[in-house]
Amino acid sequence: MGKIIAITNQKGGVGKTTTAVNLAACLNYHGKKVLLCDFDPQGNATSSLGVTLGKHDLTSYEALIGTQRTELTIKHTRHGDIMPCGMDLAGAEPELANMQNREYKLREALEQIRDKYDYILIDCPPTLGLLTINAAAAADSVLIPIQCEFLALEGVAQLIKVFKAVKANMNPKLEIEGVVLTMYDSRTNLSSQVAEEVKRYFGAKVYHTMIPRTVRLAEAPSFGKPVIEYDKYSRGAECYLSLAEELLSRNEK
Ligand SMILES: Nc1ncnc2c1ncn2[C@@H]1O[C@H](COP(=O)(O)OP(=O)(O)O)[C@@H](O)[C@H]1O
Ligand SMILES: [Mg+2]
Repeated sequence: MGKIIAITNQKGGVGKTTTAVNLAACLNYHGKKVLLCDFDPQGNATSSLGVTLGKHDLTSYEALIGTQRTELTIKHTRHGDIMPCGMDLAGAEPELANMQNREYKLREALEQIRDKYDYILIDCPPTLGLLTINAAAAADSVLIPIQCEFLALEGVAQLIKVFKAVKANMNPKLEIEGVVLTMYDSRTNLSSQVAEEVKRYFGAKVYHTMIPRTVRLAEAPSFGKPVIEYDKYSRGAECYLSLAEELLSRNEK
């Protein structure tokens, strides 16, 4: 049974998609069977892996709503499988609102294919709405990227509140997988202050690997490649490989 990890933070631009795409590619590189589930209507994870959608391509929207079998929505790439996403997912929330078990639709969709993977990573949208609730209700754990910037922890209390509510009411096994500091800049005091503050809050949940701010990581998506393909020997590639190793060693000891 694959472990389902929701990569979530309701703040936009903190590195969720960058982490989802590169962690998926690095877990795949380490020999794991990985599915990246793009669950943000922006579809950035989809395009970051070089997948472009035609009119008839099925996406996470159909899997979620349940009009198609989940496996029909999945595409294979050289960095693992992806369930792509397009703008139609943006219209899913009002549709879900009238459905029974509306919080469990993604869980039902992923149950169908779960045994084919070691890890399923969900790239969440920057909200705490019904899509993110579906992701948390489907997941075994949440991985929280936090950007090393002023007010980094702002909003985290609210995120944890939602996490606790989902755990209490829908998904008692939900855990915090880990917290990854992103866009770390070793030249600034601010980055190290934020890192200290986040470690005080989350303790041992914070990964030793911090993701630096690097041009390569920002460039790679426009070439439709994860950084381990775009520039294998870059620091960004090295750090996401090491983050994947940390995640594996926490899970496979
Ligand atoms: N470590 C990094 N170094 C440089 N740029 C980054 C890094 N991580 C993310 N970015 C860039 O910052 C922007 C926001 O990142 P993204 O992963 O899309 O965040 P989110 O999914 O949380 O909105 C994107 O343009 C991305 O390329
Ligand atoms: Mg994103």
